[in-house]
Amino acid sequence: MSANAFAGFDFFAHGELPAPQVTEAQAEQIVAEHFTLSARAASLGSQQDRNFLVTDGDGKIAGVLKIANPAFTATELAAQDAAAEVIADAEPALRVSVAIPASSGQTCIPVPGVAGGTAHARLLRHLPGGTLVETGYLAPQVVAAMGDVSGRVSRALAGFTHPGLERTLQWDPRFGKQVVDGLAAHVADPVLRERLVDAASQAWSRICSLTPELPMQAAHIDLTDANLVVSWVDGAPRPDGVIDFGDLCHTWAVSELAITASAVLGHPGSTPASILPAVRAFHAVRPLSAAEAAALWPMLVLRAAVLIVSGAQQAVLDPDNAYVTEQSAAEYAMFDLATSVPVDVMASLIGADLGVVAPPAPLAVQVPMLTVPADAVATLDLSTTSELYDDAFDDAGALRPDLEDTAARAALAEGAALVVTRFGEARLSRAPRLSQRAPDVIATGVTVWTSGPIDLRAPVDVDVDVTDDRITLRGNVFEVQVSGARPRAHGRAGAGQPVATADGRIEIRVTPLGAPDVPAFVAADLAPGWLAQVRDPRPLLGLPTQAADRHGDLLARRDASFAPVQEFYYREPPQIERGRRHYLMSTAGRSYLDMVNNVTVLGHAHPAIADTAARQLRRLNTNSRFNYEAVVEFSERLAGLLPDPLDTVFLVNSGSEASDLAIRLATAATGRRDVVAVREAYHGWTYGTDAVSTSTADNPNALATRPDWVHTVASPNSFRGTYRGAEAARYADEAVAQIEALIADGRPPAGFICESVYGNAGGMALPDGYLQQVYAAVRAGGGLAISDEVQVGYGRLGEWFWGFEQQDAVPDIVSVAKSVGNGYPLGAVITTRAVAEGFASEGYFFSSTGGSPLSCAIGMTVLDTLASEGLQDNARRVGAHLRTRLASLMDRHPLVGTVHGFGLYLGVELVRDRQTLEPATTETAAICERMLDLGVIIQPTGDHQNILKTKPPLCIDVEAADFYADTLDRVLTEGW
Ligand SMILES: Cc1ncc(COP(=O)(O)O)c(C=O)c1O
Repeated sequence: MSANAFAGFDFFAHGELPAPQVTEAQAEQIVAEHFTLSARAASLGSQQDRNFLVTDGDGKIAGVLKIANPAFTATELAAQDAAAEVIADAEPALRVSVAIPASSGQTCIPVPGVAGGTAHARLLRHLPGGTLVETGYLAPQVVAAMGDVSGRVSRALAGFTHPGLERTLQWDPRFGKQVVDGLAAHVADPVLRERLVDAASQAWSRICSLTPELPMQAAHIDLTDANLVVSWVDGAPRPDGVIDFGDLCHTWAVSELAITASAVLGHPGSTPASILPAVRAFHAVRPLSAAEAAALWPMLVLRAAVLIVSGAQQAVLDPDNAYVTEQSAAEYAMFDLATSVPVDVMASLIGADLGVVAPPAPLAVQVPMLTVPADAVATLDLSTTSELYDDAFDDAGALRPDLEDTAARAALAEGAALVVTRFGEARLSRAPRLSQRAPDVIATGVTVWTSGPIDLRAPVDVDVDVTDDRITLRGNVFEVQVSGARPRAHGRAGAGQPVATADGRIEIRVTPLGAPDVPAFVAADLAPGWLAQVRDPRPLLGLPTQAADRHGDLLARRDASFAPVQEFYYREPPQIERGRRHYLMSTAGRSYLDMVNNVTVLGHAHPAIADTAARQLRRLNTNSRFNYEAVVEFSERLAGLLPDPLDTVFLVNSGSEASDLAIRLATAATGRRDVVAVREAYHGWTYGTDAVSTSTADNPNALATRPDWVHTVASPNSFRGTYRGAEAARYADEAVAQIEALIADGRPPAGFICESVYGNAGGMALPDGYLQQVYAAVRAGGGLAISDEVQVGYGRLGEWFWGFEQQDAVPDIVSVAKSVGNGYPLGAVITTRAVAEGFASEGYFFSSTGGSPLSCAIGMTVLDTLASEGLQDNARRVGAHLRTRLASLMDRHPLVGTVHGFGLYLGVELVRDRQTLEPATTETAAICERMLDLGVIIQPTGDHQNILKTKPPLCIDVEAADFYADTLDRVLTEGW
């Protein structure tokens, strides 16, 4: 195997390869002598070479001096330098560490007398930006960039030839098995040692079956964390630089990707499927064949085993080399992940993802295992959209554990002879409420319930094998595994012969002979790989296989028909089709903790709201021009929630309408047109509310496009605004001065509109006394005070039902919506009778569905439920707990600048620097993506989009609040 026709390095002839012992002083001398540079050399980590960072007299980096191990020949080093040049020329998008010529014009300087031989020194171009070594979690786009770099290097090197490529390296997968067998003895733990040898041997046999189809070429084979240099784009790393060609050799082309992909697994938060973005990106640059796709994972397994045995050897050899020991934890993680899924599953997953393998053919059946007329078979829908779940959650938001059996029994009771689940379905019934990983919910077989005893027959000629609970029917091509049935035959059984009796619930799974053991349920990210190892068993039951997904690409359809200015959350949003309490569930059978939906105060799909809506829709839904009790009762109740003299109610459909009407009421009642608003606020989308909204997050041109009747005062942000801390009192003084100036100018404002707690800043309190002072000033000029309570009112703040209570101020007009209908479109304006009557100058007020019997019935059910479930108090209690948990993150994570808010309106403000308060905008977006991956729905807010707007349904419990804090802690620790 190690036979080598050229004089290049042969690992098996050398065995051990300790890094050459060259001091920093010696390095400086080499640089001075050959590169006429008076420079400082600082030692860098490396396993088998010696590297120094060379800085000139001005502290500027001049390059990296690499003293190659004396075991490597000048020809090999020349090949490496040439390859670097080839890539640099062919791929201008990449930065490449090419060799810098010495004064002699040579790039390779012989250094005699190192470890008894001649080593070669080269000064290589230093690429700034750092490598991926310090990076924790790798986001999918970083992984994709790794694959892209790997693909570009592979593409550039495809035609590169050089005698110095013919070497026998320990890192070349072609010798992986031999390396593991040879070095395994250095691994002290016998269990690990055996696992390594076994895994390598299985991977090797798989690779061997593919080698005739694996093209060979020059390859870097070390495009991993330490050799991928990153550029920083908006605070996020983007690998685009390549260094260290020391392992360049002629080998299987796909090794390049296998080695890059293996590095992904060493990072926290990676799963086997995390490599897919790299594979796709590589494939886009340098297309992979089916054989290469199949060889990828076994090569990766082999690579992980080689790293561990090599590290074990190096640790024995060079115990003081910190670089070696630091790497080992990541290498163990890599090996564990690489062996956590069968090679076949990963090969299928990768092949299917790239579209280079065809989906498996359906099962061919000679005789159905049982015969039940098709119309007596009921399919049990356990997908997220199944109506089965409508009433199946308990008070904590959990599904009843016996749900599947109960539903199946109900179908049998209705006359079905057989109830069968769907193959490959994501069963929401199996999803935990809170989980940081995609749960095992995809069924790899079907479950069948019978109404009484039914014979199961052999579908073809089979061998029957009975163990514990499982009956295995082995044919020539497939095996059928049945659990939960009574065996009736052992040994050989002919097609059609009864082999078991089903009575009640059985599970059936079909696998081709030789397939790996397949769990009953698998996670969505690996499902395409696992499902390729099984077949839909339904033809065994005489049923057709299921039709493929008919929905197509929902986002593309959305883009085609829905105005694109209506954005959606997330880069790859899950399809959410169900909710319950503070949970949202995707069609992939995953339950997410919902930390953003403030509209649904009571929680999602609250049965009381659903019942009220159904009841009222069956009875009556007219409009407020008719005489009915609900509009009276709801208005009385709303007015009753407000202090005197706010006693008169208008009912509308939304927050925009409510705040718009509030502005019109102020202008109508005062006969004026000017309005004062706070900068960086959002009040709605209507013509009027948009005019007073100046949040640049919602409209980047907001400030430049104000109509002349809008006057803005500074955003009273006591964290990052002009005035901070105790100084923040000056915001009110300034606002008062502006209002007084308007009055003096002959344009006294009709009103002043402001959120009573600053929602766009993540629920930040206004400075103490702010509203009292500003309200007094506006009233002194004859204007009215409007409190926009659309976000913060209605109990969310815990301590106070309305935000203005926190300020000890009473407005003249209150606008409210969102929570009022728990998601049903419902808004209200509550004001004084005098102000309401002032509207008469503009005619009548009528809103077709605002105040309809249905709106009012729902509004009253919301109020009833808020009270009966003690949700304001829950907001106070759970909110206080959550705030403490979030604030404690500041001790460990410098990114957390502060935590704003009250009750369950909190804002976690993320900053790059606590002194400058530079907003961590891109980090916040990336953190939200990673939180989604870990099961939490949270979004940024604020003009800098650097605040995690934490405003869940008010029914959230301490367990879920802790899950949010723990998950955020994990993301801040591991990276995003
Ligand atoms: C403070 C505030 N006012 C008004 C609105 C507008 O409410 P709607 O979206 O119901 O029209 C919003 C919406 O986010 C808001 O946050």
